[in-house]
Amino acid sequence: MAVRNFLGPIRDLWDDPTVSEILINGPHDIFVERKGKLHKTESRFPDEDALLAAANNIAQSVGRRITTDEPRLDARLPDGSRVAVVIPPCARNGTTVSIRKFTQSKISFREYVQMGAITADGAQFLDVCMYLGKNILVSGGTGSGKTTLLGLLCARIPRGQRVIVIEDSTELKIEYDHVVFFETKQANEQGHGEVSIRDLLKSSLRLRPDRIIVGEVRSGEALELIQAMNTGHKGCMGTVHANSPEDAIVRLEALASGADAKLSERALRYQVSAAIDLIVQISRYHDGSRRVASLSEVRGQNPDGSYDVVPIFQMSRLVRKPDGSMEGKLEPMGELPSFFDEIVDNGLPFPESKFRKPTAA
Ligand SMILES: Nc1ncnc2c1ncn2[C@@H]1O[C@H](COP(=O)(O)OP(=O)(O)OP(=O)(O)O)[C@@H](O)[C@H]1O
Ligand SMILES: [Mg+2]
Repeated sequence: MAVRNFLGPIRDLWDDPTVSEILINGPHDIFVERKGKLHKTESRFPDEDALLAAANNIAQSVGRRITTDEPRLDARLPDGSRVAVVIPPCARNGTTVSIRKFTQSKISFREYVQMGAITADGAQFLDVCMYLGKNILVSGGTGSGKTTLLGLLCARIPRGQRVIVIEDSTELKIEYDHVVFFETKQANEQGHGEVSIRDLLKSSLRLRPDRIIVGEVRSGEALELIQAMNTGHKGCMGTVHANSPEDAIVRLEALASGADAKLSERALRYQVSAAIDLIVQISRYHDGSRRVASLSEVRGQNPDGSYDVVPIFQMSRLVRKPDGSMEGKLEPMGELPSFFDEIVDNGLPFPESKFRKPTAA
């Protein structure tokens, strides 16, 4: 493909299927991620000019430009890979590029379990929540696997629904028979014509969605998403950048409060706690693995006004094995979800015993 031709010194990294990300911090400092771990490479561009030219060629191939007035680029390449560029003077190391390669191999839910990213029971519980139309927030740090898991969850949406997916740049690959994809649009050179996630979410609400999926909630769209969840759109989902389920919900509240200063804190908290049913926390562990760290139910608010976030499944303490990998798994915490009746009434094969705490051996 065209972009490949611009990459010169890093073409072998681009072609290497074991490389998932390429991180360029100036011409002589290039790292790659393999199996979740970062490695410094020997590859280098001859000089800053060559690197900047390569970055500019990539930008042009997607109809954009990088200039001193516009020193940043976030773009999706035709093959689905994502590129972010920042050039000097904003980037002090020299032209800085990150390329997240689009992985051809789409992981299935089953493979996700086999990789050890979640237990079979954890996956089945998520499946139950998807079936019941619970509103789910996927939370995790940068590159922890939020989008990957969101895509997997989308594959579990029961048939016969109308799904609207809203993203900044299209990443989610969803095989579903009735899905509408929206993507944001940047302002033109005169600063006009920007269409934000929030704008698209507002439009979506008029387009009769059953479920709305927001790739990444990072701004005022949080408010519309919460309101959609509270007005009968079951099974909405989104991802948020946070390191714990408690942080995730507080962050959602903060993002939503930025969108409407008139809404009282109390009213907003009430709406947020009513909207979100489940928070899936993903983490990246020291051994490079990415796993689901907890599945927590949001039950409302505590008497002191904080959110009542109850872990239903949580990662046990991780033990480091001799080969450096970490052993541990998601375990039930002995809490029945408040919607357990719905599981029973729908005849879903997820018995009460699966929520029982394992007895200490
Ligand atoms: N369970 C997993 N095990 C191994 N690799 C994974 C796992 N989940 C995701 N990945 C890989 O990790 C990388 C980042 O995943 P993903 O894009 O889903 O993360 P993210 O949290 O959405 O990132 P960002 O914060 O940039 O939005 C991808 O290359 C993906 O293929
Ligand atoms: Mg993502």
